[in-house]
Amino acid sequence: MKVVTCIAPVNMAVIKYWGKRNDELILPINDSISCTLSMEHMNAKTTIAVSPDFTESQFWLNGVEQSMDNKRFQNCVNELKRQSKETDMLSWCIRICSENNFPTAAGLASSAAGYACLVKALATIYNVTTDLSSIARQGSGSACRSIHSGWVQWHKGILNSGEDSIATQLYDDLHWPEMRILVLVINDSRKKYSSTSGMKQSVLTSEFLKHRASEIVPQRISDMKDAIHRKDFHKFAEITMQDSNQFHAVCLDTFPPCVYLNDTSHAVINLIHAYNAFRGRNKVAYTFDAGPNACLFLLEEDVEEVLAVVNHCFPTEKPTEDYYRGIEVSEGSFPVGLDAPVMETDCLKYIICTKPGEGANEIHSGHLLNDQGLPST
Ligand code: DP6
Repeated sequence: MKVVTCIAPVNMAVIKYWGKRNDELILPINDSISCTLSMEHMNAKTTIAVSPDFTESQFWLNGVEQSMDNKRFQNCVNELKRQSKETDMLSWCIRICSENNFPTAAGLASSAAGYACLVKALATIYNVTTDLSSIARQGSGSACRSIHSGWVQWHKGILNSGEDSIATQLYDDLHWPEMRILVLVINDSRKKYSSTSGMKQSVLTSEFLKHRASEIVPQRISDMKDAIHRKDFHKFAEITMQDSNQFHAVCLDTFPPCVYLNDTSHAVINLIHAYNAFRGRNKVAYTFDAGPNACLFLLEEDVEEVLAVVNHCFPTEKPTEDYYRGIEVSEGSFPVGLDAPVMETDCLKYIICTKPGEGANEIHSGHLLNDQGLPST
């Protein structure tokens, strides 16, 4: 039996991917840029075992057995097998066990981390050493960016085969060491309209999406790369917020519209603009994916004060033990003179403080499968 375990991170886009030119191969209509988040605080973990003795292939996700009869899943497995140099192993049955160390239901990019992890683990077991981003992309578009550490660009590519639609690293996770990310997980019971179906509808109905992809994103990609290169936070924050707003504007331009932000999300947006105006420059940037949770980018020196502002405006009745997760921060004091409305209690579920981190990696302990190839817990 051969066993491999890998972990993979979540990534947060600062220039959003929204819209495919090929649904099957998952080829996007525009480039995107993201920051890979530290795996210390959020990661997907996958153990894969192969053996000539296994009589059936099985897959467990967060403790529940899953069907492997899923097109995207199969595309990744088949592509890795096609590129494998390990001819013997390819006919053996396979056992896969995956879990996320953050709640999947929180709507935090779990499929990106999950597919990046699956592809990294399969590639390690089948000894595939080519570019893995283009394979992870076929599981979930944004997963291709979780292969790499730090700041990552997914190039849309122009080939119909998709071979040039890959993610590359712009800068590693230590390039901008002061960068911090606060994830505000928002209490929300609405059923999520998936990214996959939302962007499909946008491609079908939104003229604004076409304009965005052809006329706006190319310049933004170049400006964003420049801002990250120069570590110009003010500019970085401006483009990040503008791109998040434009993505959600495209969602509203979609017919019927896909509404991902809720009242709390809008209150966060208003608060960040009020705070930046109060400080006279962009100190914090917000960005939202296909859900209401806010992701705030800010510099380490501002975390304590911003946390005080968030706690003041989004009070929690009784903060549970794990209300604050990730990097430990002490709360600063609320800045005198900031005029910001206080929302009703418990709009936020919890807060994660994290930073840029590494891409998908193999680890050598903590396998999720036992000697029989069954979940160890
Ligand atoms: C809003 O990668 O989840 O998070 O390719 O259909 O699996 P599929 O979609 P997915 O879309 C992510 C969209 C986004 C923006 C982004 O991450 O760039």
